[in-house]
Amino acid sequence: MGVPLKFKRVPFLLSYMLVSIAVGEANYFKYKDPEQPLNVRINDLMSRMTLAEKIGQMSQIEQVNATSDVMKNYFIGSVLSGAGSVPAPNATVEEWMSMVTEMQKGALSTCLGIPMIYGIDAVHGHGNVYGATLFPHNIVKRIGTATALKVRATGIPYVFAPCIAVTQVCRDPRWGRCYESFGEDPRLVQQMTAIITGFQGDFPPNHRKGTPYVAGT
Ligand SMILES: *[C@@H]1O[C@H](CO)[C@@H](O)[C@H](O)[C@H]1NC(C)=O
Ligand SMILES: *[C@@H]1O[C@H](CO)[C@@H](O)[C@H](O)[C@H]1NC(C)=O
Repeated sequence: MGVPLKFKRVPFLLSYMLVSIAVGEANYFKYKDPEQPLNVRINDLMSRMTLAEKIGQMSQIEQVNATSDVMKNYFIGSVLSGAGSVPAPNATVEEWMSMVTEMQKGALSTCLGIPMIYGIDAVHGHGNVYGATLFPHNIVKRIGTATALKVRATGIPYVFAPCIAVTQVCRDPRWGRCYESFGEDPRLVQQMTAIITGFQGDFPPNHRKGTPYVAGT
């Protein structure tokens, strides 16, 4: 059209740059930035959350009610399998994995994209899963390690185990789960911690006492 090429290109490049800057900013969320201090991330996230999102994030729903759409529509923070709560009778490891993955996809597709946490009872092996090895309760470290690996294999990052609340300080033998107890003295229970490092992995040497730790596997 007789317009010198350089005049056509400059506006194109400029608008391209402006678009990239805008897109870059739109994709940046302070709460997702691991370089930011924890409190800054928390405050940023809280300031973005609606009441419905806060309620959803504080809710843990049962697996029977959790679909990808439910996770997404109600901003659900976590899901649990209670005793005997399975994706299907005799479900395979693959079925477990794909169920958890679908729920996670729903959670991640929300505007805030907060991953959900799936928790399951695994106090004596990954007992809800068909064919998984069953162990005695809460005893040795290697049981914790084996159970953790099995739980991970089904896509689940979180176990409700060991149970060191009521079940581990049983003072009334009439109670039906007394067999899970280490005894009636809380001091004994405090010492019976080997299974915890089995589940979580060994603390690194510089680990600060009293803070949570989970090995990255
Ligand atoms: C959750 O699932 C149970 C069992 O199928 C059902 O009875 C209950 O109504 C469901 N709850 C909701 C809120 O959908
Ligand atoms: C599950 O496995 C058990 C034991 O192998 C078998 O008796 C039962 O029929 C199976 N159930 C289904 C629904 O496949």
